Amino acid sequence: MNILLTGGTGYIGSHTAVVLSQAGHEVVLLDNFCNSSPSVLERLEKILGKALPCIEADVRETDVVEKVLREYKIDAVIHFAGLKAVSESVANPVLYYANNVQGSISLLQAMQEVDVKTLVFSSSATVYGEPQYLPYDEDHPTKPMNPYGQSKLQVEEILRDLAASDSKWRITSLRYFNPVGAHESGLIGEEPNGIPNNLMPYVVKVASGELPHLNIFGDDYETLDGTGERDYIHVMDLAEGHMAALHFQNVNAGSNVVNLGTGKSSGVLEIVKAFENITGKVIPLQFAPRRAGDLPIYFAQTGLAKEQLHWVAKRNLIEMCESSWKFQELQGHVKGESEN
Ligand code: NAD
Ligand code: UD1
Repeated sequence: MNILLTGGTGYIGSHTAVVLSQAGHEVVLLDNFCNSSPSVLERLEKILGKALPCIEADVRETDVVEKVLREYKIDAVIHFAGLKAVSESVANPVLYYANNVQGSISLLQAMQEVDVKTLVFSSSATVYGEPQYLPYDEDHPTKPMNPYGQSKLQVEEILRDLAASDSKWRITSLRYFNPVGAHESGLIGEEPNGIPNNLMPYVVKVASGELPHLNIFGDDYETLDGTGERDYIHVMDLAEGHMAALHFQNVNAGSNVVNLGTGKSSGVLEIVKAFENITGKVIPLQFAPRRAGDLPIYFAQTGLAKEQLHWVAKRNLIEMCESSWKFQELQGHVKGESEN
């Protein structure tokens, strides 16, 4: 298949590009580089042994997207392009609705115009909000707690209406849990700008000596060790989940929502221990107050992904930490022991 990846040079998009390209698909990337670097293209070329075409554009440039769909005879689109920082979405909701919702509408307009009607959409477990029960299954009520989550839910709803309006659409919204880790080569991985908000990139920067210590946001939750528990999923498992969704759509029309997680949750201290074991470094810790908007624990019901997509996450916490560390080391950011 010829597959367009919007946001294809970002964290999840670049790993999915590797999986799809190595499976023999023709992959085309489109990105405005607002949260990624063109250097990802060289690194993808190293992994794949060939260059992937990449168009520098915003998904809101409907005519450009339309042209790309025609020119590359695209069969299916995976829509990763979007903004994802929760606190930024609270501070600037218009930015988030403009990019995530307007961006998706623009893409859909282009796809309709060219009659490309197969789409996988990057959604998030954040659409569920406060758990009524756990694990979250796909029928769990949705009540996002911030504009970022709301923007994802709005797009899911647009996609459901679209599929109901025209039986040619094949749409899967994938609700990701907490993606971490990197490609085994260490050439691509997660590269947040500035001080990371998320746990794993923060731990990596403490281990490398770039940040002095990890703040643990809350140690009095009703969880095994008192810290927040999450369903961490290896980004390569997640990438493979997208290919599984495309295969499912080859034989199933309509719209569909599927969780991508492991079904297990880990606490902050468990992550820290695993990381210390792998790197042989001590991660200095400080307990800090709970972070506003954080939930104590959540994880995925994974049955639907297994049944429909024939996909399960295969990689464990060790592989998640090892690959994150390898990526960090290859970036040359690790300070020498003498500097620590
Ligand atoms: P990322 O920021 O690394 O990748 C997103 C890419 O989209 C970036 O390369 C960015 O430059 C590009 N982009 C953003 N807006 C664009 C626009 N208007 N036009 C063109 N390109 C644009 O993020 P990621 O972690 O790879 O996430 C990919 C998708 O998955 C996002 O939609 C995100 O909301 C969703 N998601 C991510 C997570 C996570 O924890 N990483 C969890 C759930 C859902
Ligand atoms: C965050 C987003 C969520 C998004 C997800 C993607 C918020 C409120 N939610 O979720 O919408 O889908 O990222 O992966 O931002 N922690 C620390 N110290 C740190 C960083 C994190 O103790 O420096 C703890 C958190 O309190 C939490 C756990 O680690 O218990 C995971 O945090 P994080 O990686 O930010 O992910 P989420 O909060 O699940």
